[in-house]
Amino acid sequence: MKAKNCLIFGGSGQIGSFLIRKLTKNNIKVTVVTRNVHQKGLKIKTQGNAGFIDIKELKIFEENKIEKLFSEADYCINLIGILYENNRGNTFKNIHTIFPTLLAKLCKKHDLKHFVHISALGINDAIDSKYASSKLEGENNILSNFSKTTILRPSVVFSNSDNFSTQFMTLLRRLPLFPLYYSGKTKFMPIHATDLSNVIYHVLSNKIETQVIECVGPEVLTFKEILQILLGLINKKRLLLPMPLSLAKLSAKIFQLLPKPLLTEDQLRLLKYDNIASGKYKTNADIGIPSKLFFKDEVKKYSFMWRDGGEFSTEKYISNTEEKKS
Ligand SMILES: NC(=O)c1ccc[n+]([C@@H]2O[C@H](COP(=O)([O-])OP(=O)(O)OC[C@H]3O[C@@H](n4cnc5c(N)ncnc54)[C@H](OP(=O)(O)O)[C@@H]3O)[C@@H](O)[C@H]2O)c1
Repeated sequence: MKAKNCLIFGGSGQIGSFLIRKLTKNNIKVTVVTRNVHQKGLKIKTQGNAGFIDIKELKIFEENKIEKLFSEADYCINLIGILYENNRGNTFKNIHTIFPTLLAKLCKKHDLKHFVHISALGINDAIDSKYASSKLEGENNILSNFSKTTILRPSVVFSNSDNFSTQFMTLLRRLPLFPLYYSGKTKFMPIHATDLSNVIYHVLSNKIETQVIECVGPEVLTFKEILQILLGLINKKRLLLPMPLSLAKLSAKIFQLLPKPLLTEDQLRLLKYDNIASGKYKTNADIGIPSKLFFKDEVKKYSFMWRDGGEFSTEKYISNTEEKKS
């Protein structure tokens, strides 16, 4: 059977690497668009077999160049997203609203078979967050431009190359105490990047027509429980301190001045809302692809690098050393 062609925007990121592997292993050729082929090319190229991956360097508003890529494509997937704005034009509106709308229009013009857009869970509720409202406006524009679209709304996505479990383990390892925003009660359903990639592949290969699907992991964990799991995995005891909202807002004001902010005021507003299945939309389990990977089991596979002793602290190393001694 002739391989299908899939155009991927944002394929060099966390979810992208897992997705490229999943698609190429299943006989789908991918064209991955990146802003910087020198920086990201090697990472993208090594995610699949030669002949299955093509890379294009483009800026996302070079409309003419982007349009040329659509003439060959069967599917389009948009993974581009940002967590904070900067003064180089990376605004939530540009990235989450205007750009996905352009993609939807091009999907329609070139009559693609399917457009999968990755949005985010909980954006209906988080009305005071600019991140959430830009994602929601983007979703609405896409759906009104191209009906053969599936919007996936994941809860927090984790893997060995995330900015979530790895960043928290770095901070927990270094700081003597850790702030709990909203008393650490916000709920999440963390989904592994492998499980999410399986959902994306299933949507494309089974021509799933559902327009919005909430993608969640197999368990509900509060922010505090997530930190406790990570502390257990890296063998550290730290004080988890509920932080008054006024102080949290002040710290976010300061943190957001950093080039790569640890926390912004917008993220703080977002953290107020639970990030779990709403019950109003189908979930990945409802379409037959329940998540199988649990947070603690998966993070355990790479968390040892944040423990004292690093790789030498693993059971495998310790038992090998004992065997040699005896
Ligand atoms: N990770 C999560 O926990 C999570 C949760 C919910 C929703 N999501 C959504 O899922 C999508 C993918 O997430 P991810 O974790 O894989 O993201 P990621 O690792 O941050 O990667 C996103 C990719 O987008 C591209 N990108 C970023 N800013 C860009 C800009 N200004 N212009 C053009 N391209 C830009 C980058 O590709 P190049 O540098 O190669 O151009 C980057 O590799 C995003 O839309 C995100 O909002 C993620």
